[in-house]
Amino acid sequence: MSALLEVDDLSVAYRAEGGDVAALRGVSLTAQAGEVIGIVGESGCGKSTLAAALIALLDANADVTAGEVRLNGRDILSLHEDARRKLRGRDIAMIFQDPMTAFSPVLTMGDQIIDFQQHTGLSRAARRERARQMLLKVGIADADLCLRRYPHELSGGMRQRAAVAAALMANPALLVADEPTTALDVTMEAQIIHLLRSLRTEINGAIVIVTHHLGVIGELCDRVYVMYAGQVVEEAPVDDLYHAPRHPYTRALIACDPGAIATRQGVLPTIPGRPPDLAAPPPGCSFAPRCPQADATCRSTAPPRVRVSDRQAALCHKVVP
Ligand SMILES: Nc1ncnc2c1ncn2[C@@H]1O[C@H](COP(=O)(O)OP(=O)(O)O)[C@@H](O)[C@H]1O
Ligand SMILES: [Mg+2]
Repeated sequence: MSALLEVDDLSVAYRAEGGDVAALRGVSLTAQAGEVIGIVGESGCGKSTLAAALIALLDANADVTAGEVRLNGRDILSLHEDARRKLRGRDIAMIFQDPMTAFSPVLTMGDQIIDFQQHTGLSRAARRERARQMLLKVGIADADLCLRRYPHELSGGMRQRAAVAAALMANPALLVADEPTTALDVTMEAQIIHLLRSLRTEINGAIVIVTHHLGVIGELCDRVYVMYAGQVVEEAPVDDLYHAPRHPYTRALIACDPGAIATRQGVLPTIPGRPPDLAAPPPGCSFAPRCPQADATCRSTAPPRVRVSDRQAALCHKVVP
């Protein structure tokens, strides 16, 4: 059986002044209905580009140079803009880092959350009632007051809850959240994570959560894809990723971010060095310049994808199956 979501060997490049930026290089990923998938990696590794491809909303200067994204078997990146827009209204929903971007500043929350469901064919009163119920579900106790408010009149955490509610109204087959907690303080972050976890059962589709913070992944996800320099360098079920990480980059990420959200304190250590410039990725393994295990082969030859179990694989010369 094919998966609900299939990303097949996807490469995306941005046309830019200083040369093309190879933001995604041969990314493959699958998600089944009911699965929560995490995508993790440092800033600049291509996570948001992948998220944009999943919702068929790549920037105007982005070229899909290879591969496909299929939702229920349908190649979504080759659809016309009208069809893609329709898809985003019905089958795919997105939660952004900044919940302000999800809403128009000049309309009340009610006008917007009720509009999100125009395709349902329900009466306005019925749509309003659905919106109220959904707001209650995401923990907004005074739903009527929230519906009367403008986005800027709500706190950041409240806006993100409302954005989650708006995304869920369509009962999407795919929900993509790009850094949904990054703009929030630690307390609100914990609340939104708790909310997303409690909503798992409400969503019949797949959820893809993008974050640079491994703690978020541990709290929420079933399977994880670790991205580095536009590639998936490791994929694994979340427990295997924590307990038996195979790629040196995954190990470095875990070393920098060991705790769950609740126990996180102060400033975390970071991996020395920076991800490479994707306008000119290094030859060989992209992580080699920062990798404690790298040798001459790593620096000159692209690494193989080594499968260590039927659900775990790593892109590394040093990994033995
Ligand atoms: N519209 C764009 N034009 C040119 N380069 C871009 C554009 N969007 C992103 N990039 C570049 O693509 C690379 C990947 O970025 P992004 O997907 O945002 O990574 P992440 O979300 O992991 O931080 C970066 O080098 C970034 O500067
Ligand atoms: Mg990003």
